[in-house]
Amino acid sequence: MKVIVVGGNGTIGQAVVAKLQAENYEVLTAGRTSGDVQVDMTSSESIEQMFQKIGDVDAIISTAGAAKKVLVEEMTPEDNLVAVQSKLLGQINLALIGQKYLRENGSITLTTGVMKDDPIAMGSSSAMANGGVAAFVKSAAIDLTRGIRINCVSPNVLEESYAQLKEAFKGFVPVPAERVAQAYLKSVAGKQSGQEYQVYE
Ligand SMILES: NC(=O)c1ccc[n+]([C@@H]2O[C@H](COP(=O)([O-])OP(=O)(O)OC[C@H]3O[C@@H](n4cnc5c(N)ncnc54)[C@H](OP(=O)(O)O)[C@@H]3O)[C@@H](O)[C@H]2O)c1
Repeated sequence: MKVIVVGGNGTIGQAVVAKLQAENYEVLTAGRTSGDVQVDMTSSESIEQMFQKIGDVDAIISTAGAAKKVLVEEMTPEDNLVAVQSKLLGQINLALIGQKYLRENGSITLTTGVMKDDPIAMGSSSAMANGGVAAFVKSAAIDLTRGIRINCVSPNVLEESYAQLKEAFKGFVPVPAERVAQAYLKSVAGKQSGQEYQVYE
């Protein structure tokens, strides 16, 4: 089973890659500068080129997506576009373009996050994108054919990221990346579709 993990060299991505490799999946990683193959998911052309390079796969995973952290009172439409183009459309375009390269019974797994359910200051742009991705996943699942499934994983703040993020996430109880990675494995190896796996504890 061949899997592409966009963002596979990041904090969540590395844990997902390790989990899948331990289950004997063939894993390719992608990033703008990191990984086995380069892709910028904010560009449809770049996504198409990546799939042309790697060919058909059994699973597509995204553990990537940027957003600006800005208070709503100070946020400009341009600030908000970062999350729209990366976290929201980047991930959705990965699914839209990637579906053509998915083998029968393949899966797509995207990443959202706790901020949409448990708000933090300066988190609105991320929350917007997370909500859009989760709604897309729930709805897209009923359209997909050929046994293709789609889910997303909504992690709490990670233990591995907490040192950098603790000011923003005071009072949150971080979760280990390994536990978050289990949800991606569940999405790839299981039969469910249209789910958001919330890993908040
Ligand atoms: N860490 C947490 O506590 C946490 C909790 C909940 C949700 N999340 C969300 O989960 C996602 C991943 O988080 P993380 O902490 O693992 O991030 P990270 O460590 O910064 O890793 C992000 C990865 O994505 C790649 N990437 C970024 N932008 C890309 C693009 N436009 N096209 C292709 N690849 C791109 C990066 O590689 P290159 O630099 O080579 O492009 C990197 O490998 C983010 O959306 C984040 O908001 C994180």
